[in-house]
Amino acid sequence: MSDSPRHAPFTPFFVCTALAAALSAGFGGAALLAVLLGFELPLDEWWLPLVQAHGFAQTFGWLGLFIMGVSLYFVPRFSGTPLRWPVLQTWVWALTGMGIAGRLLGQLWLSHSPGEPVGRGLLGLAGLAGFLAVFCYLLLLGNSLRRAPRHQAIAAVKPFFLTALAGWLLSSTLGAWAALQAALQGEAQLDMQWHRLSLDLFAALVLLPVAFAFSLRTFPLYLRLAPPRWPVRAFVLCYLGACTLEFLPPLLFPGETGFVVQGLGKTLKGAALLAFIWNLDLLLRRKPPWTAQLEVIPEARRFHPPTRPGMPDYGEFGHFERLLWAAYLCLTLASLMELWNGVAALSGKEPPWAPDALRHLYLAGFGTLLLLGMAPRMIPGFVGARRVAYPGLVDLSGWLGMAAAWGRVAPVALAPFLPEEYPTLGILASYLFGISGGLGWLAVLCLTVNLGMAMRQRSNRDRTAGIG
Ligand code: HEM
Repeated sequence: MSDSPRHAPFTPFFVCTALAAALSAGFGGAALLAVLLGFELPLDEWWLPLVQAHGFAQTFGWLGLFIMGVSLYFVPRFSGTPLRWPVLQTWVWALTGMGIAGRLLGQLWLSHSPGEPVGRGLLGLAGLAGFLAVFCYLLLLGNSLRRAPRHQAIAAVKPFFLTALAGWLLSSTLGAWAALQAALQGEAQLDMQWHRLSLDLFAALVLLPVAFAFSLRTFPLYLRLAPPRWPVRAFVLCYLGACTLEFLPPLLFPGETGFVVQGLGKTLKGAALLAFIWNLDLLLRRKPPWTAQLEVIPEARRFHPPTRPGMPDYGEFGHFERLLWAAYLCLTLASLMELWNGVAALSGKEPPWAPDALRHLYLAGFGTLLLLGMAPRMIPGFVGARRVAYPGLVDLSGWLGMAAAWGRVAPVALAPFLPEEYPTLGILASYLFGISGGLGWLAVLCLTVNLGMAMRQRSNRDRTAGIG
């Protein structure tokens, strides 16, 4: 009998709820917000609550639920230690879903009737549910990481996961606090500073570290990159130091000094991110692939078409790699802008790049494009399917996702630089912004169809297993 540990199967609810969050408040909300802004239509009192619900649903729902589902599947397998309480997964999923739905409904309700007990109850419970969900998730994942033997595959990327656990705790505590405070005061709008800090902490301390861990572990396999042979632990320490300088000073000593120290943090963070991208070697491909070290090249499998040049697959996942390149291109731009803003702050000038553009470059550019590329490559395998139903849809979602990210970021980032003598440029940029949310929604719809078909094929096979 095999003595390998028995792991809990993949829980598709996380992915399904992430897609639902993206198609409703996330990209659905984005489509509405962008049309109103881009085409200069009138805004209502629900505008700011909807902006906040959109930001929360995209960050904790779309990105967060995907990260939760995939890490609860992957980390125990990497570390060789099965989840101790697999049943908690259902709680994590259900509480997160309640948190996102409750936030949207509660904030919209309160924007219509401020102080209404139902709206206050919904918002308060949503805050508590989101916090409890993260608490259960940390218990599960922390336990797997703590019990992992040192030599396991997880060791090289463990510092990233530990950073992410701290990031989850900080960002969800702040988010819950802001929601409870608004519920107690009967207001639809959360305190802007705490709410934004919670979302920005998620991007810096959860999204980026988890994305880096998965990139380091899976890109050599999926894209034949070189294995990571550089001091990852030292990188994590530098990155954490830079983030501390970026986030703490404005809270501890607001004003000129805090602004300058924050500038130093941003400069270091931008430099650290560029160093990671350089070492990952996805964009420039300076290092030979790991297969170059093999003495015997594996023969092509019989009855299979030849693999794509330089890739281990046959094209059954579409051109998912384009999305990964585009994601890291966005991260390179974001790092340069972060660095630029940091240097400007250090020299006492106003940062040239708008925080909103930078935030969306991280979240809609890097995070979303990475997810649109990684999900069709990974999830079919988790549910026992060998390919996505429609590889062409992966390509389509790629083009739509890239257009959405650029349409969202470029008009805001470049607005101060557009020449005033060409007003048509400004109008075109505004229209591009206006349709970007709809493009993002369509990109997620393509992914939903592909993953839905993969899961259906699996359940059909399960149902017919043993027949005939
Ligand atoms: C391309 C599609 C998107 C469009 C059109 C869009 C649109 C918007 C708009 C109009 C705002 C309000 C900006 C303001 O107040 O000035 C906003 C805020 C925000 N968005 Fe997006 N967004 C998109 C994608 C995303 C994605 C994919 C994420 C995260 C994964 C995201 C996260 C956020 C966050 C965190 C905020 C700030 C919320 C706040 O200030 O309370 N957005 N977005």
